[in-house]
Amino acid sequence: MVEIRTNTVAPEEVPTPLLAVGVRPGGSPPGRLLAEVAAPALSGGDFSGREGETALLYTGGAIAAQRLLLVGLGDEDSPSPEVLRRVAAAAARRARSSGVREAALVVEGGEHEVRATVEGAELGLYRFTRYKSSGREDGELKRLELLVDGRREEEARRGLRIGSAVAAAAITARDLANEPSNTATPEYLAERAREIARRHGMGCTVLDQAAIEEEGLAGLAAVGRAAGNEPHFIVLEHRRGGEAPPVVLVGKAVTFDSGGISIKPSSGMEDMKYDMSGGAAVLGAMEAVGRLELPLNVVALVPATENLPGGRAFKPGDVLRLHSGKTAEIVSTDAEGRLILADALSYARRYAPSAVVDCATLTGACVVALGHHASGLMGNDEDLIAELQAAGEAVGERAWPLPLFEEYTEQIKGDVADIKNSGGRPGGALTAGAFLKEFADYPWAHLDIAGTAHTKKNGGYRTKGATGVPARLLVEFLLGRTEVAA
Ligand code: BES
Ligand code: MN
Ligand code: ZN
Repeated sequence: MVEIRTNTVAPEEVPTPLLAVGVRPGGSPPGRLLAEVAAPALSGGDFSGREGETALLYTGGAIAAQRLLLVGLGDEDSPSPEVLRRVAAAAARRARSSGVREAALVVEGGEHEVRATVEGAELGLYRFTRYKSSGREDGELKRLELLVDGRREEEARRGLRIGSAVAAAAITARDLANEPSNTATPEYLAERAREIARRHGMGCTVLDQAAIEEEGLAGLAAVGRAAGNEPHFIVLEHRRGGEAPPVVLVGKAVTFDSGGISIKPSSGMEDMKYDMSGGAAVLGAMEAVGRLELPLNVVALVPATENLPGGRAFKPGDVLRLHSGKTAEIVSTDAEGRLILADALSYARRYAPSAVVDCATLTGACVVALGHHASGLMGNDEDLIAELQAAGEAVGERAWPLPLFEEYTEQIKGDVADIKNSGGRPGGALTAGAFLKEFADYPWAHLDIAGTAHTKKNGGYRTKGATGVPARLLVEFLLGRTEVAA
């Protein structure tokens, strides 16, 4: 991973193999010397300043840097954090592909600009390469210096500290979700959670199959019954908020979703290794909470299991008495996420939480509704929904509100039990949300990340594979409820 530092030396004086600087359309880099190096490329029409465009120039000794990388900032007057994240990603990737091991980047602004730049660079450089035997096509960028205004150095340091923690949340989530299901078993996720707890002095409890049954987590027990790898219920507790009621984060972690007896078509089934992305994002968010030592109480609940067919598998028509005491009729064993989440949501009651947020790759219907550009956002508390929507907008992990009308609850009334686990195709994301709502008797919101948790192509600071969504949204939401120590 790239090591990032701040520095207040003037850009033209930094002895670096590559100095990157943002340039607007029609503009030129700051300072006479940088402008002179850039002038031929700008007047020759080699570079227009379009967002993310790059031009690599040799300085011939005109400044202390060997190369000057121009990076287009696009047309905005003052680039938004989202533009800065994308531009920083483009700059860092271009620096890496040019073969340098270290680089410097001019950052105009203070805390927020530095934070966005750090997130963009770290996330844009991300690659999941641990299973590639023949080295990488290009080397790694090892060090990145952010050149900031000396009068804003303290702010910049704070931006670096927050940006690094927030990036670590998403990178932890990406690493966990990219890991294939033969490695990323429920036991593996529990081990990663224990590591986070050890690093940051959190409490960690892991229930195994027997303890899950003992605790009455019948949905998780049923989904995990045919699994080759035992289910685990992971509890992480960050206690730095005194007596205040905690925020509880719940993440679906189905390490592989075959559909079970209601088996899925085989084409594309490999993507169901990502069905633990909600749990991955929650663990990633806890990594940032720990690094920032947030003065809050935060609990993470991650029900982790495989969903496989087999002789011991739960079956369509079965009735389960879930942790809350409500009975659920199984229409489809492929609607497994809501069963394990229902158990986690009623388990959360013991904390008398101020808010509970669950995130889950829950429905294909949500992908149909919103595509890959926003997560579905539902809940029982308008203020909490607004808070999460704003947090998502701020970090570029958009979430969009969807309704939970009474009629969706009607649609999942059970025939022989209290409730059934599928309401059929119409409004599939909403009937799933309505199912969860039955188990939440505190301020609660649900993020359906089926369309946003992974992507097929590189774009901006989002790299192919797991995106880490909504780990940064969750951290931003928690940051909005407290203050980070300087
Ligand atoms: N994990 C899937 C949802 C999913 C589908 C995520 C596609 C990402 C891409 C979930 O467990 C599931 O199978 N949901 C069913 C529910 C249905 C049986 C009511 C679905 O969406 O088809
Ligand atoms: Mn499923
Ligand atoms: Zn699933």
